[in-house]
Amino acid sequence: MPAQRKLFVTTALPYANGKFHIGHIMEYIQADIWVRFQRMQGHMVHFVGADDAHGAPIMIAAEKAGKTPQAFVSEIAAGRQQYLDGFHIRFDNWHSTESLENTELAQGIYRSLKANGLVATRTIEQFYDPVKGMFLPDRYIKGECPNCHAKDQYGDACEVCSSVYSPTDLINPYSALTGAKPELRSSEHFFFKLSDPKVVDFLKGWTQDKDADGTGVPRLQPEMARKASEWFEAGMNDWDISRDAPYFGIEIPDAPGKYFYVWLDAPIGYLASLKNHFDKGQAKNHWHEPSRTDQTFDEFIAKENDVEQVHFIGKDIVYFHTLFWPAMLEFSGRKTPSQINVHGFITVTGEKMSKSRGTGIDPLKYLSLGMNPEWLRYYIAAKLNSKVEDVDFTAEDFMARVNADLIGKYVNIASRAVKFLPGGQLVLSSRKPKAALLVEQVKALYESRDYGKALREIMAFADEVNLWFDSAAPWKLVKEDKHAPAALEICSECIEMFKVMTACLKPVLPALAAEAEKFLACAPLDWANAATPLGAGHTVGKYEHLMQRVDAKQLDALFELPAEAAASPSPQPSPAGGRGSEPGGEAIAPGITIDDFTKVDLRIAKIVNCEAVEGSTKLLRLTLDIGQGNDRNVFAGIASAYRPEELVGKFTVMVANLAPRKMKFGTSEGMVLAASHGDPKANPGIFILNPWPGAQPGMRVR
Ligand code: 2FM
Ligand code: ZN
Repeated sequence: MPAQRKLFVTTALPYANGKFHIGHIMEYIQADIWVRFQRMQGHMVHFVGADDAHGAPIMIAAEKAGKTPQAFVSEIAAGRQQYLDGFHIRFDNWHSTESLENTELAQGIYRSLKANGLVATRTIEQFYDPVKGMFLPDRYIKGECPNCHAKDQYGDACEVCSSVYSPTDLINPYSALTGAKPELRSSEHFFFKLSDPKVVDFLKGWTQDKDADGTGVPRLQPEMARKASEWFEAGMNDWDISRDAPYFGIEIPDAPGKYFYVWLDAPIGYLASLKNHFDKGQAKNHWHEPSRTDQTFDEFIAKENDVEQVHFIGKDIVYFHTLFWPAMLEFSGRKTPSQINVHGFITVTGEKMSKSRGTGIDPLKYLSLGMNPEWLRYYIAAKLNSKVEDVDFTAEDFMARVNADLIGKYVNIASRAVKFLPGGQLVLSSRKPKAALLVEQVKALYESRDYGKALREIMAFADEVNLWFDSAAPWKLVKEDKHAPAALEICSECIEMFKVMTACLKPVLPALAAEAEKFLACAPLDWANAATPLGAGHTVGKYEHLMQRVDAKQLDALFELPAEAAASPSPQPSPAGGRGSEPGGEAIAPGITIDDFTKVDLRIAKIVNCEAVEGSTKLLRLTLDIGQGNDRNVFAGIASAYRPEELVGKFTVMVANLAPRKMKFGTSEGMVLAASHGDPKANPGIFILNPWPGAQPGMRVR
């Protein structure tokens, strides 16, 4: 690895149709910590973000809001900075995929792919809304489920019985935009030939590369490399990269009326933002010393310029970043990413987050309550590791961890020790604690994104220093003589150790570290000076309290529902748990006779196995024993509510005489029963039925 690494770091580009939620903030904090850590080593880093502005949903949302899509996305963009500043997330540049740079880069990359023989055209049939005059994406087509006949189901899957189908299977389909009956029309689409053997061969090698660009770091985490192998086994399909007008996107060269599908130009937005950053002269006059460069964008990004391109993304967009994106770069003659760092989701008190709704924590509300942004940075860092694991935020844990660690252990050391140093002057300290070792350990852990472990090491060290202070009891020593040498020595040493810990915490707590540097009256801390003693004779400044404790009342306020939501009597559709003519969010169905009911054969079933369904975020595959000798295979749309391992061994109720239904992932031989609210926006929960103890597999439910 070169003495000064050149790093180009990004986070996933958020869709420009909503505010940031806590999931975005978590990812930005993760990347920001890594970037700050690298700069503290003197490495050059260009850290950029942008809005992902294109696509049909944004075009439609803008139209609903009575705005042009450009005006709509600009308004969203204008709201970004307050979040970033608020949480000390310091991107060097924030740009947009709706930009000249992105248009030129996307068209250029496309031209190269085409010149390489990797673009094919094919005519496909799709639903078209004759009133709106546009082809409809699957989620804008609704109709009756071909399987269970539930009304108003989306064009790709039924939310009631979980069957998966194509929009053309829907009974009485209609456009969700205008209500019109869609017509099947054919249109020419452009495909990126991912199934081409040279692309497949490249990706097989690339995804399994354990030493990207000679850095000693694998491109993918081991679990992601394994996932990629599974995808290759399942086979690569060509990727449809075009959409027909009207579409908010980038025009495909020499193809009037055709636009790039949003996911083609979205990652190119990383390069567009970097180019914009360089073209504005910001790279040359960078705010941070080791990141200044006289190179142009083209020079910086050139294949031979050993730049490491590092992406931080969530686990839901791995396919795009580990297959489509490197293939696009490679076959347009560009440098491919060095690392794709994938994180899990953030749950709040165990509840999964929806991309569109976010969760119970509103980042701006957090800030407006006067809560310290560095509490959240610390808490998130303490929970993160290098694996693709979810992170859970709970109020109690948050308060306990921040108060115990940051106030009780770290800040405490400075406030206790400085009291016994007359004039704040340090004397030569007598002990040689393991400061240099701590610094080396912590550096390695930041590098590999094991932030939780790094913070545990720092706090274990803080415990040692506090114990040592307690056992030396300087407050007793100074009773007789306020210059007692033993008291001065221990307190000097504690201040030295406080300095080492401050350096170690600086990537996570930049504002606190800046205050601590003022108190310590030292140069900005970095990895080179972290373990160097301030030394005898050094005078520290006046101590002012560095951090307040978390107050439980702030957390209560953070989780309190907005007044209107808590007080509103019964908005339409009725809220979760609401009563009235639509209990559970839907009217009671028309009456049936007992004979109608007995046609449905309901049986107690034991879930003998349960697993995730590759390629589906909604479905779980259940193996059910109903005492027949041969188990049933049933797909259920409950993946948002249950983990497979939670269900294995449990009993439930199934419809045993439903005609088998062929689905995309296999045949479903029945249906399990689960409760849900009629309006998933009011209550997204799904609750599988579970009989009282004693019921045996095969017993009929009547
Ligand atoms: O999933 C998303 O939110 C996308 N907007 C992420 C795009 S990342 C990159 F490709 F731009
Ligand atoms: Zn259905």
